[in-house]
Amino acid sequence: DQIEKNGFDHFMLKEIYEQPSAITDTYRGRLLVDDGIIRMAGVDDNLERFLNAKRIVIVACGTSWHAGLVAEYIFEDLARIPVEVEYASEFRYRNPIINSDDVVIAISQSGETADTMAAIKLAKEKGAFVFGVCNVVGSSISRETNAGAYTHAGPEIGVASTKAFTTQITVLTLIALKLAKAKGSISNTDFHMHLRELETIPGKIEIALNSNEHIKKIAFKYKDVRNCLYLGRGFNFPVALEGALKLKEISYIHAEGYPAAEMKHGPIALIDEEMPVVVIATRKGHYEKVVSNIQEIKSRQGKIIGIVTEGDTSVRDLADFVIEVPDTIEALTPLVTTIPLQLLSYHIAVMLGKNVDQPRNLAKSVTVE
Ligand code: AGP
Repeated sequence: DQIEKNGFDHFMLKEIYEQPSAITDTYRGRLLVDDGIIRMAGVDDNLERFLNAKRIVIVACGTSWHAGLVAEYIFEDLARIPVEVEYASEFRYRNPIINSDDVVIAISQSGETADTMAAIKLAKEKGAFVFGVCNVVGSSISRETNAGAYTHAGPEIGVASTKAFTTQITVLTLIALKLAKAKGSISNTDFHMHLRELETIPGKIEIALNSNEHIKKIAFKYKDVRNCLYLGRGFNFPVALEGALKLKEISYIHAEGYPAAEMKHGPIALIDEEMPVVVIATRKGHYEKVVSNIQEIKSRQGKIIGIVTEGDTSVRDLADFVIEVPDTIEALTPLVTTIPLQLLSYHIAVMLGKNVDQPRNLAKSVTVE
């Protein structure tokens, strides 16, 4: 066990730290920056199906569903293809409208999730082309789908998914960029800029990981809270959902993720001096709007933990704590903003003495309905 943990106290921490190399493994052989090419056999062989798709429907559960939400923003922004993201468990019980010219993308780390598998079977029955994004090679979902792309993250043992999430986003970004290029919905300059930037992400995650000790101090400060709110906008809204899921599954603290602007439609009533609010407020993407959301929290005495771009001063002036992440282009921010949220929930759970790698009531893959 100790050898497999490679010196880390828990598999989860090891897997958080593996993200730079896992992402490099995800794009190795696929992302050819100098040639300006993305090579993915599963997409190349079925390019016409993707290009003729009226829409893409993504089905998944849990963290994989959050990766699907990030992909929705990326596909619509870059490839201009309408995307719907469905909980696999809901999809199959509501007689969904699926046509033969739809592309369904099923995302699953384990490749064994029963609800996702059932959604795939239903989509296939309705004539859709189903593409799988799985981590476990040879898993049931990877065999049931018409084509697919592996994330190549390596084994993920911690029940709380970490490197699976960021590598799923990486694969989905590669697909979106590839389709955008083929459709002509992205300029050449932008396409090359995205490829170059994607290649810098592992290094930027390394930098984000350097905040570990600082994050530990923040965890110590908030470990005894009963509730926590996570807010983000645009590409970082799904990151807020994922941050909240990480906290609740391993520390058993009630946490909710919300689009920052939705706060005023309800959750703002929860804010008082007891409530920590983690706000993803990176410089790209509605920054000023998020800063004004932070001011609203501040005026109600909420405690603010800001995830900010290196060098930020506006949020620093308002927040109780800030955690800096390196700057990147908007579509890729989730890959760096996720890192501090993983570390924060990890340290809180460890300080509370919880079983981080095997939280109560949870299984690594949910093979029952
Ligand atoms: C994430 O931390 C969870 N443990 C869980 O939500 C998980 O992502 C979900 O069960 C889906 O699993 P899959 O990716 O293996 O299909």
